[in-house]
Amino acid sequence: MSSKTLPFVRLADPVKDAEPLFDVCKKTVGPALRDGEPNLIAPYIWNVPYLRFCPEYCFSVDDGNGNAVGYVICAPSTSNFVRKWREEYLPILESLDPLLKRPEMNPPANWEEDLTLGVLQLLYNPEDMLHDACPKLLKEYPAHLHIDILPEYQRKGFGKKLMEALWEKLRETGVDGVHLVMEGRNVNAERFYVAVGYSRFHEVVDEGKSGELGKDLNGNIWMVKKL
Ligand SMILES: CC(C)(COP(=O)(O)OP(=O)(O)OC[C@H]1O[C@@H](n2cnc3c(N)ncnc32)[C@H](O)[C@@H]1OP(=O)(O)O)[C@@H](O)C(=O)NCCC(=O)NCCS
Repeated sequence: MSSKTLPFVRLADPVKDAEPLFDVCKKTVGPALRDGEPNLIAPYIWNVPYLRFCPEYCFSVDDGNGNAVGYVICAPSTSNFVRKWREEYLPILESLDPLLKRPEMNPPANWEEDLTLGVLQLLYNPEDMLHDACPKLLKEYPAHLHIDILPEYQRKGFGKKLMEALWEKLRETGVDGVHLVMEGRNVNAERFYVAVGYSRFHEVVDEGKSGELGKDLNGNIWMVKKL
């Protein structure tokens, strides 16, 4: 392989990378969301708004030929991001894809029975990201991120490199803490986060249901890092 074609980490291009990164999200989202409508909707929650609103905090793994095959995407201020999502993103969603029709918000979906309704309700309720029941999370770790890499490029050090690029950018702009919310079942992801320097949020946040640090009422895990 010539050095020209070696993969590397670079700032994401919000136009050119939009489609490939949408695709990375579809392929790497949790197994329950890998098919059908939920799979088509998922990137509008966990990918599109980041490239749209904070591209300078998004980094891609480039396969060496200009194709984006992984990303870390981040909102440096979760509360500002939620405001933008409500004011500037929700009004245009239906024009992006007819699938993204505003759902009934009540009652909350039973995710086991209606995944499509579950993801649509999440899409239309960005305030979920504020974690109002635990204000300490955003106060101490105001930024949040998502990271995903196509399987062929995993376990080659790019996850760590993406994180380092993001941390540097966050530090430069005075952001002193970052968090992420991961599926409790994704044991490998937690191993990765711990290996690169994250730890679980330092409180029990599920009213004692599990008693585990950083595990919320939905069984998701909050990982945090001071910068
Ligand atoms: C999780 C993910 C982003 C990690 O990125 P990566 O490029 O594969 O990770 P790296 O190669 O930088 O790994 C750095 C260290 O993390 C640890 N690690 C990474 N993946 C691991 C795994 N599957 N099991 C155990 N440890 C792991 C290791 O200590 C590794 O160092 P080593 O390879 O020298 O042993 C990537 O595997 C991925 O996209 N997975 C699928 C989607 C996903 O789960 N995203 C996170 C959602 S919350």
